[in-house]
Amino acid sequence: MNKLTIIIFGASGDLTKRKLMPALYSLFYNNRLDKEFIVIGISRTSFTDETYRDYIRQELNQFLDATVLNEELINKFINHLYYETMDPTTVEGYFRLSDRLSQFNGCDDFGNYLFYLATPPSLYSIIPLFLKDVGLNTKHSRIIVEKPFGYDLQSALELNRIYESVFEEHQIFRIDHFLGKETAQNLLAFRFANGVFEPLWNRNYIDYIEITAVENIGIADRGGFYDHVGALRDMVQNHLIQLVALTAMEPPALFNADTFRNEVVKVYNSLTPLEHVDFEEHIVRGQYTAEYNKKGYREEKGISPDSRTETYIAMRLEISNWRWSGVPFYIRTGKQMPTKVTEIVVHFKETPHQMFHCDKGKCPRANKLILRLQPNEGIVLRIGLKVPGAGFEIKDVTMAFDYNQLGGIPSGDAYARLIDDCIQNDSTLFTRSDAVEASWKFFDPILEYWKSHPDSPLHGYPVGTWGPLQSENMMHEHHAEWTNPCKNLIDTDKYCEL
Ligand code: BG6
Repeated sequence: MNKLTIIIFGASGDLTKRKLMPALYSLFYNNRLDKEFIVIGISRTSFTDETYRDYIRQELNQFLDATVLNEELINKFINHLYYETMDPTTVEGYFRLSDRLSQFNGCDDFGNYLFYLATPPSLYSIIPLFLKDVGLNTKHSRIIVEKPFGYDLQSALELNRIYESVFEEHQIFRIDHFLGKETAQNLLAFRFANGVFEPLWNRNYIDYIEITAVENIGIADRGGFYDHVGALRDMVQNHLIQLVALTAMEPPALFNADTFRNEVVKVYNSLTPLEHVDFEEHIVRGQYTAEYNKKGYREEKGISPDSRTETYIAMRLEISNWRWSGVPFYIRTGKQMPTKVTEIVVHFKETPHQMFHCDKGKCPRANKLILRLQPNEGIVLRIGLKVPGAGFEIKDVTMAFDYNQLGGIPSGDAYARLIDDCIQNDSTLFTRSDAVEASWKFFDPILEYWKSHPDSPLHGYPVGTWGPLQSENMMHEHHAEWTNPCKNLIDTDKYCEL
């Protein structure tokens, strides 16, 4: 096989500088790339090879983790980078790219290409067809496509058709970086490498589940992208639903790309369709508003002053199968919340009877298991224990495992892990075409409802708060409430700006 050539479309964009280049550098640092690898950056911005190298060098100094910063290695890495200024919507540039690839690889070019589409989603349908026109879709090539894959079910079906006309399914890597997170993979290990929780992991013992992935930042300079996408497409249809799948899936018999992804698809296909739900009660959308000196969403750069794009979603979903029937899954995501946190909280059912008399009648009767994916990754079990001394006062206490105890090795970067998997042709942690379609099939009715009810509520919430109150009300019918992640774990308060 000839040299690995990674071609990044969108090479002057935010994702490339913040995530992709640091991830490639970290693979280089860990000797995970071929000695002869090449990276070709592509975008409309005008750079030469030299000026692009200077630009990436600066960005690496800004975005690399201090533990891997090494000037000599950065310089060596930078020498593998090249750049091609081109308009990806016309064929001319692709001919130039093809010529350039032939120059690099000589006459025995087997096409060991990895195309990375870090572009606005509007280009996802265009680029593969041009690659095919100039014959770059070789049988050894692979393509990584960022999310959201499609804008709704119809467009996802069309995209899948386009990709399948250019590449084989095993060459298509639909990336969802949440699956590259060490702690997301650890959820699988927690569930399937241990026997202790499995007998409890079902409707007989679990009351409800919360999944939270919120951030304490706004949309920064991504307004142009975000205003067309919104929280449902940006976070829920991919990241959050993946976490639902990891929490709810059946154990596969073997752990490989087919068996694992079969189980994910089964979860998506078992989601109770949203056709009969009250959309306004079960799906709460919000948009952040100005507070103190922080801008509201509509004041952000690139956002129209009357935008109705949601920056927050909370919703209830159910899974119609033997394991989960009747157990609500409450999921939420939002920008400009009090903290950045991703966690899954499993609420077990209450004890059937409480024989202790507790202070002020408040006995903790239900156990909670908290799986914290980020930050300060860990697992916490909340249990009731007796307070020392006279009487029998029961108190809710915490049994905690800190992920750092696994040797203090910093958890690997999600993008580095996934790019490495793609280079190894391992698609286990990437989304298969049927999963994308099943997920869109579930969420499409929400998009249709919002479209056909343009005045349906979009609640404002001030920057730095936990989102619209309506999302609390949504849970009351089940006597449930959102867990405040700032009060969950030992030592979390420093992560909360409350
Ligand atoms: C991205 C979204 O996929 O995930 C962003 O487009 C979001 O809007 C980001 O900020 C969150 O990822 P992480 O890894 O920082 O939690």
